[in-house]
This record gives sequence, structure tokens and C-alpha cells, in this order.
Amino acid sequence: MLQDKTKIKAYNSILETIGNTPLVRLHKVTAGYQGHFFAKVEYFNPGASVKDRIGLDIISEAEESGRLKPGGTIVEATSGNTGVGLAMAAAVKGYHTIFTMPDKMSSEKTKLLRAFGAEVIITPAAVPHNSPDSYTEVAKRIVRETPNSILANQYYNPKNNESHYKTTGPELWEETGGQIDYFIGGIGTGGTISGAGKYLKEQNPDIKIIGIDPDGSILRDVYYNKKAKHEGKPYKVEGIGQDFVPGTLHMKYIDDVVEVTDKESFLMARRLTREEGMFVGGSAGTAVAGMLKYAKNFKPDDVIVVLLPDTGERYLSKIYSDDWMRENGFLTPEKITVKFILEGKNKEIPPIVFVTPKNTVRNALELIKEHNVSQLPVFENDMCIGSIDESVVMRKIIEDSATADKPVSELMEKPFPELNAEDRVTQAIDVLTRKNSAVLVKENNKYIGILSRYDIIEYVTV
Ligand SMILES: Cc1ncc(COP(=O)(O)O)c(C=O)c1O
Repeated sequence: MLQDKTKIKAYNSILETIGNTPLVRLHKVTAGYQGHFFAKVEYFNPGASVKDRIGLDIISEAEESGRLKPGGTIVEATSGNTGVGLAMAAAVKGYHTIFTMPDKMSSEKTKLLRAFGAEVIITPAAVPHNSPDSYTEVAKRIVRETPNSILANQYYNPKNNESHYKTTGPELWEETGGQIDYFIGGIGTGGTISGAGKYLKEQNPDIKIIGIDPDGSILRDVYYNKKAKHEGKPYKVEGIGQDFVPGTLHMKYIDDVVEVTDKESFLMARRLTREEGMFVGGSAGTAVAGMLKYAKNFKPDDVIVVLLPDTGERYLSKIYSDDWMRENGFLTPEKITVKFILEGKNKEIPPIVFVTPKNTVRNALELIKEHNVSQLPVFENDMCIGSIDESVVMRKIIEDSATADKPVSELMEKPFPELNAEDRVTQAIDVLTRKNSAVLVKENNKYIGILSRYDIIEYVTV
């Protein structure tokens, strides 16, 4: 029973748990590079992204200035995460929210915003930012038409930068004991990198701030040439890159900008999950891939911090779906393991159909017919000791029909080559010659499947 309130160690609301995210050392993805690498893991925020920080601050400022009154509506054009930050704070504080979102964003994000009680309006992604149908213009129109509403305006609201100046920057400084040399992050609104960058440079002007920009965005070009040479082209990574220069992006705090492709981003996000146990979104992959592209500049004692903006749960149907990755050409054969192809094979056929040396050739042919395969391994005591090929067997039976009743051992040829589950599919392509029509796959010294030339061709041509 409650006797002493002061003994209860609880936060007063979920909003008090925003920020103070952990700094975690990176190991495997940075192996072989000079420097000490740390990740600022922003999915520890209660709304699972860095944007919780600005959501709360933008609302607080609107309240303090009197622009937002009780029962009011908060409107924003958002790629999702800012919406979650705003919707969460609005839920606690009792406001309505309406969000406009481009149609390229993952369905998880729309559902998430609706879960917080927000209204979500989907707009086309493939229109210029100043088109009346763009998500930013639609948001402005809703504010004009809705009484007692404000536009959170993350692309121009100075509170966005101030939030990172006030929280992200000081956290990075403190968590590294003032030893940070590089701060690296993707550029969306530019709020994170400009706000935290300003704070860090005020502590130590030698700290370098490196922005990472997706291939297709205009920001790197603007950084180098002051003006965009192209209008930007579509890309799939979410939350970063632009086809305009946001008011919240202050290039003067940025020391260099590195470009990263969608494929590099997504493969790195998957590596962060599988190798570091950090289940992150695509833009985290962009930031880390960009950091490694820049790594030739790092010295052995440098302290390098990269910001990982959000959680992978928001992208389960995209970058964490092998089908989606394959359809978009992001999983190419050189990166794919033989196990990956085995897993995609028709599950109606047992993983390995085989004969023993004592089985008759007739038994072998029956199995070949039943499972619609062209070759079989011959197993004895869990070892592959030979192989049977349909065309060879047929030829021999035509020459001498008695062959059908002979044991397999009299007709078998050399065993199939073997690969390990984690070997690349390109290695399978190398060994699958005219003489080797299949390859056996082993994991932990046990056979887990067989891949034929047909399986590989089917995979490569889908
Ligand atoms: C997933 C994700 N990554 C990175 C960013 C970039 O942060 P900032 O807008 O502060 O530049 C955002 C911003 O929307 C984002 O949603």
C-alpha cells in the first residue's frame, strides 16, 4: 500500500523516458577498420525512434507560445517517425493528430500512427515537393481548413534543431566523456545533425560532423555545389534525403557528406541486426555504410559515433522480407548463401531424396519419377558415396533391360561435390558443371539438402 510516494521509482509519464538512449560499441561490422566505433541506439526511445525527441519539444513550444490550445489538432507531413513522436505526446496531452504521408512508406508506419489514434492521409510520393498533392502541401492545406490546429513543421521549425542541441548533442558529449572525434548520421530534416553538431562543435571545434545522404537525394550535391544539379530521383530508404533543402538543415555544421545506395543501406541494416543484434531500420544501414565509406579518414584512436534512428520492426515487410529484397534487386547472387536457396525450394519434396548401394536401379528410377528429379545421391552410413544420373541409367537400361534389377552400387558414379550452408551461391554455380549436376549442402557436418543445376537456374532467373 502506498505509504511513501518518494520511494516509488516511476516516471510520471511515458514522455519522461524520451532520450538518454544508450551508446553501444560496434564490433563485427566495423572489424578491420581503424578507430573506436559506437552506435547511439535511438530505438530505445518509447516511440522507437529519434523523432520522439522533437515530437515532444515541438508540442511543448506550441503550448507555451499559446499557438496550441486544449483540444487542438496537430498536423504534420511525416515519413512516419515524427508522426509517432507527435502522436505519442498528443495522446498523453490530449490533442488530435492528422498526418500526411507519402505512399512509399511502409504499411507498418501507417498502422502504427492509427494505433495512437491519429488520422493518416496517404499522398503520392512521385510528385515534386511543391505540387499541391505533395505530403507537405496537403498538410498545409489541412491546417488552413482546421480550426485550432498547428503545423508541427519539422522541416522549418527551429525547435527540431534545438531539441537535438539540448538533448542528443549533450548526451553524445557526456557518453563519450568529451572524447568524441566524429559524429555521423543520415540527413532528413537535418535537425539531428545540425542541432547535435552545433552543440558538439561548441564544446570542441575539431569534432567532425559527417552527413550521410541516399543516392537519389540532392543534398550531397547541394553541399558540394551550393545548388542542386538534378531534381533528385526516387529511392527506397525512408526518412532521409530530400529533393529540396529543408530550413532545419544547417550545412555550416557539416564537414562532409557521403552518398550511399539503397542496396548498401539495406544490406548493412540486415548485417547490424544479424551480426550486432541491433534490430534497426534502413536509414541506420545508410548511416553505418556511409561511415565505413568514410573510414579511410579515421585514425586508430579516433572515437566515432554513428546515430541509428529507428527500429527494424517498422520495415518487416520491406528490408527484412527476402521476397521484397529480391523483387527490388537488393539481394544479388554474390551475397546469397546456398542455404538461402535451399530454404526457398519447394517444401513438398523432402530435403534429400537418396538411395543406398543395395537398392535396385528400379528403386532409384521410381524415386526419380516420384519426386521429379534428375539425379540422386547414394548414401551409406550417412555418407554420400556415389550418385545416380537419370540419363545414364536410362541409356544402360535400353542397352540391357536386366540393368533395372542390378544394385545401384554397380552403376553409380562419383559422389556430388559438397558445400557448406553459408557458402555463397556463386560457389555453387562454379561447381555445378556438366559433370556435376547437383551439389550437397552441409551444416554442422550434417547434410541439410541438395541443390541441382535446375534449382540454381530457377533462382537466378526469377
Ligand atoms: C528513419 C529516419 N532516419 C533518419 C531521419 C533523419 O533525421 P533528421 O530529420 O533529424 O535529419 C529520419 C527523419 O525523418 C527518419 O525518419
